[in-house]
Amino acid sequence: MKQREVIIACDFSSREEVLAFLERFPAGRKPFVKIGMELYYSTGPETVREIKRRGHRIFLDLKLHDIPNTVRRTMRVLSELEVDMTNVHAAGTLPMMEAALEGLTRIDGSRPKLIAVTQLTSTSEERLHTDLLIREGMEATIRHYARNAARAGLDGVVCSPWEAAMVKESCGPSFLTVTPGIRFADAAADDQVRIATPARARELGSDYIVVGRPVTAAPDPVAAYERCLEEFV
Ligand code: C5P
Repeated sequence: MKQREVIIACDFSSREEVLAFLERFPAGRKPFVKIGMELYYSTGPETVREIKRRGHRIFLDLKLHDIPNTVRRTMRVLSELEVDMTNVHAAGTLPMMEAALEGLTRIDGSRPKLIAVTQLTSTSEERLHTDLLIREGMEATIRHYARNAARAGLDGVVCSPWEAAMVKESCGPSFLTVTPGIRFADAAADDQVRIATPARARELGSDYIVVGRPVTAAPDPVAAYERCLEEFV
């Protein structure tokens, strides 16, 4: 059976804030959390280790993009942190993604899941043409980058729930779709544009939803998280 998961985007700027947030959850509830650049660069790997010690699974969202050798060596460091999922930019090319996978794989063959960012959702189709000089449209570009990620052996991509079906069609049903841009039906979109409710994301075929402010900024974050589980899992 397909395993769907809710990942909470812990976009906090200090270790105290993120730990206080996680302490609100009952002892038996250990949400899968996403740690991004802000928290990682400000508090370092010790925060990752502490959250792991507390029994949470972690998606370390650092979006690596560099030469293959640097990415391979950096991934080796991240795999020692025992995170459960991490990512790269598919724009780093196939050899870079292969190097990332190699670096991430431990001596015993185990490794965290590795996913790719295709195009950032903040990049418009116009910027794709004018700034990046990519002639193809957004959809074709995302499809091509996702296929490259699959060819390199990665586990999936970050995408909008609305792109999940297209990604699955291009890369196969077991290729994972990790989807942010989630909002409850009765809530504000904030700065997200292509949003979906957890229930809609489920219908659209997402494997993991990444939910930030609808949970972290909710008056009752635990109840908001439970609502995500009810709708999505
Ligand atoms: O608060 P919100 O639910 O909008 O948070 C979504 C999370 O997913 C944030 O950490 C954001 O950086 C991340 N993200 C995103 N869109 C992408 C990639 C990542 O919103 N395309």
